[in-house]
Amino acid sequence: MAYAKIEIAPSILASNFAKLGEDVRAVEEGGADLIHVDVMDGHFVPNISIGLPVVASLRKATRLPLEVHLMIERPEEYIERFVLAGANRILIHQEATVHLDRALTMIRELGAQAGAAINPATPVATLTDVFGKVDTVLVMSVNPGFGGQKFIPGAIEKIRQLNQWRARYNGAFRIEVDGGVDAENTAELAQAGANTFVAGTSIFHTPDPAAAVRQIRKLATEALSQRV
Ligand code: DX5
Ligand code: ZN
Repeated sequence: MAYAKIEIAPSILASNFAKLGEDVRAVEEGGADLIHVDVMDGHFVPNISIGLPVVASLRKATRLPLEVHLMIERPEEYIERFVLAGANRILIHQEATVHLDRALTMIRELGAQAGAAINPATPVATLTDVFGKVDTVLVMSVNPGFGGQKFIPGAIEKIRQLNQWRARYNGAFRIEVDGGVDAENTAELAQAGANTFVAGTSIFHTPDPAAAVRQIRKLATEALSQRV
């Protein structure tokens, strides 16, 4: 199965920014596949987080790929700068641009992987026309803007639907899930078809973030082996 490989992407939004390098090393040691960086503009979401300088610093601090989740309006205006800062994968929101196709194409042309993200109230059907232009689809399982929120179970059905549709539409993309992902829901998400697990609180707000990464991977891998 082309998309069976599980990816664990710790979200540094839940890390201690005063010791970001150490926190990243901890999850690297736990076998994290990539680092998830949440960028918020105070407009698309009601919060402000981090931006270009942090991505550039992280690029020097880790060899892991950086996935930048842009929770900003008109993401197309910033895509090139984030790629130049070191982003390997850029996730933009379907709701944040009227030119989703153009923006996704731009990401790929700049040499990064392109991802389309949808909020909890946005149907999967809004993405069918870009299935051929994305490397990944991100299903938000919380309303974006904050870490530590409760998982919204409706995301599971959306992942199942995406999993069926990617076959039907000859799609070749990963399915990512972001928000409230933890040891409780990982197995069900993997069975539904999720490939990439973004987790902040359940990794960094534990005494041993490396062990938390290993545990999520174990739960996802076991669930997948039962499914196949
Ligand atoms: C939410 C962010 C998430 C968030 C996940 O707006 O996009 O990446 O950091 O954090 P947890 O895992 O704590 O829900
Ligand atoms: Zn995110």
